[in-house]
Amino acid sequence: MMVPQVARAVLKEACAVHPEIERAGDPFSGSGTILTESMMRGLAFFGTDINPLAARLCRVKSGPFFVEALGQKASEVVAHIDGDKRWAVEANFMNRDKWFRRDAQVALSKVRRAIRLEKSAWARRFFWVALAETVRATSNSRTSTFKLHIRTQEEVEGRDLDPIGVFKKVVVRNVQHLKDQASQLSEAGQLVRGHYQQDITVSLDDIRQSTDQPLCDIIVTSPPYGDNATTVPYGQYSYLPLQWIDLEDIGTNVDAGCLASTHEIDTRSLGGSKRVKKAEPDQIKERSPAFARYIGSLKDQPRDRAQRVTAFFRDLDGCLDPILKSLRSGGLMVWTLGNRKVGGKRVPLDKILAELLSAHGARLLCKLTRKISSKRMALKNNIADTMSSEAILVMRKAV
Ligand SMILES: C[S@@+](CC[C@H](N)C(=O)[O-])C[C@H]1O[C@@H](n2cnc3c(N)ncnc32)[C@H](O)[C@@H]1O
Repeated sequence: MMVPQVARAVLKEACAVHPEIERAGDPFSGSGTILTESMMRGLAFFGTDINPLAARLCRVKSGPFFVEALGQKASEVVAHIDGDKRWAVEANFMNRDKWFRRDAQVALSKVRRAIRLEKSAWARRFFWVALAETVRATSNSRTSTFKLHIRTQEEVEGRDLDPIGVFKKVVVRNVQHLKDQASQLSEAGQLVRGHYQQDITVSLDDIRQSTDQPLCDIIVTSPPYGDNATTVPYGQYSYLPLQWIDLEDIGTNVDAGCLASTHEIDTRSLGGSKRVKKAEPDQIKERSPAFARYIGSLKDQPRDRAQRVTAFFRDLDGCLDPILKSLRSGGLMVWTLGNRKVGGKRVPLDKILAELLSAHGARLLCKLTRKISSKRMALKNNIADTMSSEAILVMRKAV
């Protein structure tokens, strides 16, 4: 993700140069860093993410900010949980007993039942986000990686688990976050009766298929930096939490098929399908000499490496047209790009993306490099390796 400090600095500078900026866009909204920072500047926002959990998180972060009522509702949810003596398990999915100890299933079910009793959808959505974090912390999957990675039997049995205690703590912390966000927005004159004053839309969508987007004055984004299998599997990360959340509370267009397997969301995301048509590599090479050189450098490597990289760039390229359509002419784009190696060679994502965007008439204004001290990364493996720096491309759409 783009760290909040960078997003803040980028928006501050961009708005100073272009005071006419009113709406920011992030086609890969993730956990909503750009959204939150855009709100702090009083901007309207349009975001997209293919992952239902990400879309939900962004929508919660955009309000409403009924912080007093939320405190009251949190006490009610906790009272319902504490008064619930039932043992029934409220979730049914493949391998449930593999991923959750029985006592955790019972406790998470009490939380789920209590949230369902809440009448206001906005409040239920807030509590689902807290439940999502609780699920991650109390499942049998390791928390040190985004991948689903089962703990040993011994570890599973020996863990001291308290899902209800975790949920209560997360709720207290998140209510405080929302209060802090609300008071900052109030100070900026952006909150009226708990509602943010500008238009915020976060669409649960594949950006490649996204139509009907409002026009943005600036795009600030951090796309996936490789296929999910070898970088960050956001879909796997969300799979278990989504089994415990009522999908109808996420939005109207959630396709339950996205939970068909632990890999489904990742398969639908950028680079998710490794199948490459014969003409595709050449189509990208024509527009990006850096891509052509890079693929050439992989010729002694196992074939699937070049294929993986090509599939990712084919998909990234497929996003550019819809993204550019959502940006007003002459608008700025700020792309934060993770850095990775495939087969021991650094993928020049910054160069390739700049060339692909240039082929659409955009112009590179500058490139910055930021060193990263620590970042939760995908586990190193022999196919891909992550590195501790990221590039920031600043580009302008043609007028
Ligand atoms: C690097 S993360 C974005 C981080 C985000 N800027 C933040 O602050 O948290 C990339 C995001 O792209 C999303 N994504 C992947 N493929 C997508 C697609 N085809 N359409 C829309 N979003 C997609 C993933 O679900 C993930 O949330």
